[in-house]
Amino acid sequence: MKKTKPTVLLIYGGVGVEHDVSVMSADNVYSLIDQDEFAVIPIFISNEGDWYRVDKIYNPCDAEKKSLPTVHLGVHNGRGGIFEDDGFTAVDVAFPMLHGDGGEDGIVQGALECAKIKFVGPDFYSGPVTMDKAFTKIIAESLGIPTARFVLSIAHSPIYSMERSLERAEKLFGYPMFIKPSRLGSSIGASRADTKEEARAAYKMAQSFSDRILIEELVDIEKEAECAYFKVKNKEIITDLAEISCSFGFYDYEKKYYGGVGAALSEKAKISPKTSERIREYTRMLSQYVGTRHLSRFDFFIARDGRVLFNEINAIPGFTKSSLYPTLLSEYGLSPSHAVALMIRDALEDA
Ligand SMILES: Nc1ncnc2c1ncn2[C@@H]1O[C@H](COP(=O)(O)OP(=O)(O)O)[C@@H](O)[C@H]1O
Ligand SMILES: [Mg+2]
Repeated sequence: MKKTKPTVLLIYGGVGVEHDVSVMSADNVYSLIDQDEFAVIPIFISNEGDWYRVDKIYNPCDAEKKSLPTVHLGVHNGRGGIFEDDGFTAVDVAFPMLHGDGGEDGIVQGALECAKIKFVGPDFYSGPVTMDKAFTKIIAESLGIPTARFVLSIAHSPIYSMERSLERAEKLFGYPMFIKPSRLGSSIGASRADTKEEARAAYKMAQSFSDRILIEELVDIEKEAECAYFKVKNKEIITDLAEISCSFGFYDYEKKYYGGVGAALSEKAKISPKTSERIREYTRMLSQYVGTRHLSRFDFFIARDGRVLFNEINAIPGFTKSSLYPTLLSEYGLSPSHAVALMIRDALEDA
């Protein structure tokens, strides 16, 4: 008798600002999944938060959405799966290829747990921790891993208000500062401030994306170094570093997804073996403590004054054809398609 293939729910889109990147990542992951081994059911989450079953990875327009079946997660006879108008389909495993808010922050992961569906990527504990840059920086500090000096701020809190936080930041490190939303990605809402006036404007911009704001010292970055972390039960990989050189401004959304980055990647990172080993060791320490699994990217700054600073963890890193994460795995010797298969098989084996 022919063995039935495990069904994989490939969830993409999402309510967050990184919706479009998720579509590109999922498109790539879909093409990497071996359809002889797995039966893929793509699920598109619209900007409004509606869940649709689709038959290919794309960004359906409003007119197209009208004819798509909506689905929701649930449990039927003890098995997790999706409910549609005309019935229930059991699902073996999910692959949320979602970035940022409402995607890699534990929300979808919690829903999958409730629906008894195993899944690839961060779990319900590590998702929220890695999503919030403040939390990960606090963990890094307590593990003895240096990060840019920072002040935590909460826009609508009298204790952690903008004015109070900026005053603290002025005392701690002064201008220039770098102000960014604590819970977002893709450089959205992040900017530099050289004066109090600019700081207030930068803060307000960040605040339009997240109530929690990080005010950091502006690091004079010589290099941004990132490494890919891959973990399944019997295999852990921390790849070589990729270097992102920013000759102007900072590594912003446009550069990340629409150009420029390829050139930086094709060049092997010119980082000394000592620094490189230090960054990999920091990655090992953080990943173990935070409990990242399957895929994640660890980002660092090498400052001109020689400091090696941890910056952030991306628990579901960009996975487009030109993204750093799959490129680094390939360079290491693990093809992205094999990596995807290993992640899915690993999630399937979860108790
Ligand atoms: N403290 C800082 N000093 C200088 N530049 C920074 C600082 N923090 C972030 N940046 C720049 O902004 C970019 C985006 O910030 P990051 O913290 O990585 O958030 P995101 O999740 O949006 O990628 C970084 O890649 C870096 O170029
Ligand atoms: Mg970043």
